[in-house]
Amino acid sequence: MDGNGRWATNRSWPRLVGHRKGAERVKEIVRCAPDLGIEWLTIYAFSTENWKRSTEEVLGLMGIFARYIEREADRLAAEGVRMRFIGDRSRLDKKLQALMLGIERRTAHLTRLNLTVAINYGGRDEMARAVRSLVADAAAGRIDPAQIDGAMISAALDTRDLPDPDLIIRTSGETRTSNFLPWQSAYAEYEFTPTLWPDFSPDELAAIVARFGNRDRRFGGVKHA
Ligand code: IPE
Ligand code: MG
Repeated sequence: MDGNGRWATNRSWPRLVGHRKGAERVKEIVRCAPDLGIEWLTIYAFSTENWKRSTEEVLGLMGIFARYIEREADRLAAEGVRMRFIGDRSRLDKKLQALMLGIERRTAHLTRLNLTVAINYGGRDEMARAVRSLVADAAAGRIDPAQIDGAMISAALDTRDLPDPDLIIRTSGETRTSNFLPWQSAYAEYEFTPTLWPDFSPDELAAIVARFGNRDRRFGGVKHA
C-alpha cells in the first residue's frame, strides 16, 4: 500500500492524512475482494524498516492500526472476514498486540475472506526468526537437520497457515518488492501500478484481477494444451 505520503504531500497535507485516507481505501478493498473471487488478501501495512520514520508518523500509524481493528471488528465479523497478522509483534505496543490477538480469536471461525495484515513485517526478519526456531529444534533433538526441506521452512514462517501468493500488486509506481513475502512469492505474478494507494479503487483492482486471470502460469513446467 505505497503512496500515502506522496498523496498527502501533493495536496500540502501532513503525511498522516494520507495514511488515514489509505486506511479508508483498505476498508473498500476488503469489502469488494470476495466479489472479485479473492479468498486470501494480504496487505503490507508496516515494515521492519518503517521504524526509521519520525516518531510522529510511527505513532500515528500505530494509532490508525488500533482504530481500524476497534472500529471495523463488528463489520469484519459480520462479513465473514477472518483476520490474521504476520510480522514480529513483540516490538508493538501491548494494547495493540491485545487488539490483534482479540480479533484473530474472534474471527478464527470465518471463511469468506482471509485478510492478513503485515505489521512490523520484513521477509528477512521472518526468515531469521524461522531459522532460529529450526536451529533450536535441531539443537534440542526435535528435528534432524538433514530433514529440513522447503515445506519445513514454509511451516516455520509467519505465513504457515497461508497459501503462497498468486498475485502481488505494488502501488505508487515503485518497481521493488521491498522485503514483502520473498520466500512465499517464488512463483507469484507481479503488477506494478503508478496509482498512489489512496487512489487505488475497487475498479482498478477488478481490472488487475481480470488481467491476472488471462496470464499463463506454468510454475516451471510446460504450457498445457
Ligand atoms: C504507505 O505509503 C506505506 C506505509 C508505511 C503505511 P508511504 O508512507 O510509503 O507513502 P510514500 O511512499 O511516502 O508516498
Ligand atoms: Mg513509500
